[in-house]
Amino acid sequence: MLLKDKVAVITGGAGLNGLGFATARLMASHGARVVVLDLARAEPAAAAAQIGGEHLGLVADVTDKASCDAAAAAVLKAFGRIDVLVNNAGITQPAKTCDITGADYDRILDVSLRGTLYMSQAVLPTMQLQQSGSIVCISSVSAQRGGGILGGPHYSAAKAGVLGLARAMAREFGPEGIRVNCITPGLIGTDIIKGKLTEEKKAEIAETIPLARLGRADDIGGACVFLASDLSLYCTGITLDVNGGMLIH
Ligand SMILES: NC(=O)c1ccc[n+]([C@@H]2O[C@H](COP(=O)([O-])OP(=O)(O)OC[C@H]3O[C@@H](n4cnc5c(N)ncnc54)[C@H](O)[C@@H]3O)[C@@H](O)[C@H]2O)c1
Repeated sequence: MLLKDKVAVITGGAGLNGLGFATARLMASHGARVVVLDLARAEPAAAAAQIGGEHLGLVADVTDKASCDAAAAAVLKAFGRIDVLVNNAGITQPAKTCDITGADYDRILDVSLRGTLYMSQAVLPTMQLQQSGSIVCISSVSAQRGGGILGGPHYSAAKAGVLGLARAMAREFGPEGIRVNCITPGLIGTDIIKGKLTEEKKAEIAETIPLARLGRADDIGGACVFLASDLSLYCTGITLDVNGGMLIH
């Protein structure tokens, strides 16, 4: 029970095949009360109910500051504290540099980067009062190697921005007992890649990965539990690669 009595908020957590839901489920199994935040169409309340009746699902759009603030207030009302935030919501788009429109740029950066800022801003005052907290930001191997498999350059830029934002927040809030860390997943089999890669292509990619397979959502969930828990009490500003060895640097 690594997260006993902790309250953990996971953005983009309602997709049943996604990293966020796997993280929420694993955190709950370690004793956390979890709050699944997601867009209305993803039905966060139903996702939370699948984990158990004591958990909460809330509609929130991370690109909207008022929506983030309202969600944080609702979590406080329900559970009285916020110990963990996982900034997981993100969208991708395969595109070449010269084809990226202003609207594409806004859409992709807004969810990953602006969303990470707005949701962190929404929970930080509570963590400051508590003088403790752990924020985990989901970046991507795409930020490190200049493109993953599917995302365009604007996705790489959004995820690289998340690394910089998280490191700066780690420096700013460390003295108040608040840790901020990143995870850089490799290629994980979730809905984000659904229909975009043939089984043949996936097998081809797996051959280039030292651990010889694509990642599973629980691989990321486990890393999130570690960074949320007291096992990582002396870690802040780190980037934890969870990529099967796809990028070793
Ligand atoms: N799957 C991979 O290979 C991989 C690799 C590296 C990084 N990532 C990152 O991991 C995170 C989770 O991705 P996933 O693979 O589970 O994909 P996913 O599509 O299953 O999950 C993304 C979730 O974010 C939610 N979301 C989208 N816009 C939102 C908004 N404005 N407000 C709130 N929620 C919103 C979606 O409804 C969805 O539930 C993303 O940030 C993604 O970029 C994924």
